Amino acid sequence: MMKRLSFSLLLFSLGTASFAFETVDTKNNTMVLEAVSGQPLYIRYYGGKLCNSDLESVSLCGSLKELAYPFHGNRCHREEALSAIMPDGKLGLNLLVRSVSRKGWEGGEIVEISCRDDVYPFEVKSVYKSYFEENIIETWTEISNCGKKPVVLSRFDSGFLPIRVGDVWITHFYGSWGAEAQVETEPLRRELVTIKSKDGTRNANRARSEVMISLDGKPDENTGRVIGAALCWCGNYELRFDTFDGDNHYFFAGINPDNSAVSLEKNGTFVTPPLALSYSSEGMGGVSRNFHRWARNFKIHDGHRDRMILLNSWEGVHLDIRQEEMVKMIEGIADLGGELFVMDDGWFASGKYKRNSDGSALGDWSVDTDKLPDGIGHLVDVAESHGIKFGIWIEPEMVNSQSEIFEKHPDWILRQPGRDISYGRGGTRIVLDMSNPAVQDFVFKVFDDIMTANPRIAYIKWDCNEIIRNQGSLYLQNQQHTYIEYIGGLIKVLERIRAKYPDIVIQNCSSGGARVNYGIMPYFDEFWTSDQTSAHQRIRIQWGTSYFFPACAMACHISASPDLHTGMPASLKYRVDVAGSGRLGVELHPSGMTDSEKSFCRRAIEDYKSIRSVVQQGDLYRLVSPYDDKGVASLMYCSPGKDKAVFYWWKTDHYIDMRLPRVRMSGLNPAEKYKITELNREEGSKPHTFEGGSFSGKFLMEHGLEIPFDRMNPWQSIVLLLDGQTNRID
Ligand code: GLA
Repeated sequence: MMKRLSFSLLLFSLGTASFAFETVDTKNNTMVLEAVSGQPLYIRYYGGKLCNSDLESVSLCGSLKELAYPFHGNRCHREEALSAIMPDGKLGLNLLVRSVSRKGWEGGEIVEISCRDDVYPFEVKSVYKSYFEENIIETWTEISNCGKKPVVLSRFDSGFLPIRVGDVWITHFYGSWGAEAQVETEPLRRELVTIKSKDGTRNANRARSEVMISLDGKPDENTGRVIGAALCWCGNYELRFDTFDGDNHYFFAGINPDNSAVSLEKNGTFVTPPLALSYSSEGMGGVSRNFHRWARNFKIHDGHRDRMILLNSWEGVHLDIRQEEMVKMIEGIADLGGELFVMDDGWFASGKYKRNSDGSALGDWSVDTDKLPDGIGHLVDVAESHGIKFGIWIEPEMVNSQSEIFEKHPDWILRQPGRDISYGRGGTRIVLDMSNPAVQDFVFKVFDDIMTANPRIAYIKWDCNEIIRNQGSLYLQNQQHTYIEYIGGLIKVLERIRAKYPDIVIQNCSSGGARVNYGIMPYFDEFWTSDQTSAHQRIRIQWGTSYFFPACAMACHISASPDLHTGMPASLKYRVDVAGSGRLGVELHPSGMTDSEKSFCRRAIEDYKSIRSVVQQGDLYRLVSPYDDKGVASLMYCSPGKDKAVFYWWKTDHYIDMRLPRVRMSGLNPAEKYKITELNREEGSKPHTFEGGSFSGKFLMEHGLEIPFDRMNPWQSIVLLLDGQTNRID
């Protein structure tokens, strides 16, 4: 058990009032709740770590006392976290504290505060789970109907946080296919700000369920108090900031209740997904590093394993999968020094339907022996004979109407009886009803059959390319439960898969990055960040994604030039330098590469292997944002011991009179001397003046290196290894 300073329950009196403060502590954060038996549960403080005497100050200073979980009734006159309709049709609640319990777990503590309504047999347990070292507090609620007749929950947020009005800004993420995680920063004004999703199957395509809340004005990367919040849910969600009168902004986060009221039967309990919160006084960078550590330690499958360098077949051949091309791709990536080949969409068919277009065969998971006469096993053998591993693409939650599986089980899809079906991608794509246990078994079996037939498959790319267009379940009695039960069914399947296949690497893909969230990531090793692989756009997408998600999970691939989706050209070095700032991979047909391109990539992949642990396990410092239009974007990773770092610098604009800022580094040990070596240097290019030189961390952070503007290179970029020499400077 780690050593920690925790003063859990503190009882004290001031004048006539007595207080019962329950604290939830991490290394640098404290949350204070006031839990007095027979009184509502209040939140009194959330922020930097408090010591015992500070705790007394919380009550003396006269600030914050708000319901910790505001409910509809007679105590809350604004937005609320919980609304319930009782069996007699009444709406109000009055939840009062009944009991408090605390227990340790390996990473921190769990504090549970139970409240009960004073009229109805209805209970709400508010749970706070601390991740001590990572500075994260998760909160969720367990809502129980202890009576005999059903209760309906019309709103059931995971968590709530009051934030003192001042100069508060939020940073959130919007996007669309091919342009995910675009960063938007704005002050919170007096209004209701709602960020929500209604896609059903996924939730990160348009607006994301994570937000940074900056308490000291326009956010900065390294300074200022910032709270990060991430809802750990893969389905429809809603984040709300309610600011009208009063001293606080009120932040709510939970499942989106639109068309999703929850019916709680006799003795039924509904558990909301966790809301993860982190506070840092080191700006948004501090919050990001907390979330990254938490993700690697707890929320991303196998977060400490080195991620393999892979070639994915999609952009190279699309659906045109053929055995000889697959073999060429395997040989190609093995020759470049890669470690894995992944065969994407197009490999399957049924007796009746072929996968030659988007519109057919999805759901018929048999190998197309016209395309792959020797089957998958042969490709696994070929890969292994070249010293690499083999992976494969599936999209098991969706089918095409042009498939034998749909013809056999038309009742397995989500649809509204008596109405026409609305189709998505390919004109025939539909979503299976994951609430149906028969469908859950089918989806599990898709995965299990592939793995049973080919146990040496090392990687599955699990795609989800459709939203819920047909809002109805033929399986569920209560249609309001469709969205929530879809995600519940999916999670059940993923749990079964992980119980049986703990070691296989699984990529979470959803038309690119539409499923990047902490509801689903515990089952996946990584995610496909975006279908947009143009390096120029990727800088912005990866930047936005990095606020909450670590580099080890962020798949970034070198693709062909000009880019497939934008027509944008880029030098190979630029593409490599951008992809190399995440989990490096390749997304092109190696047969199309020249010998010199191959030799450049070979060296770059070798270089990446030497810095992989710093990039994937290190601390991220964002230096210059591509959203600030400075003509350059830059970030770096530092190893936990600060003995090594990798610095990335990409020019994002190009015109003749450019004046680029000199970039100051961050996160280094000021007293360490770092030797500079350029990585991914193009053959024949002139070394920079600083090549091979040693600089103190202090100098690099206060001054930085001068990277000369190359007037003739619109795709200028640089990657530097900083190698600590362990010579302390006197
Ligand atoms: C989605 C994914 C792509 C690719 C295709 C295959 O769009 O994001 O990477 O797998 O599906 O259909």
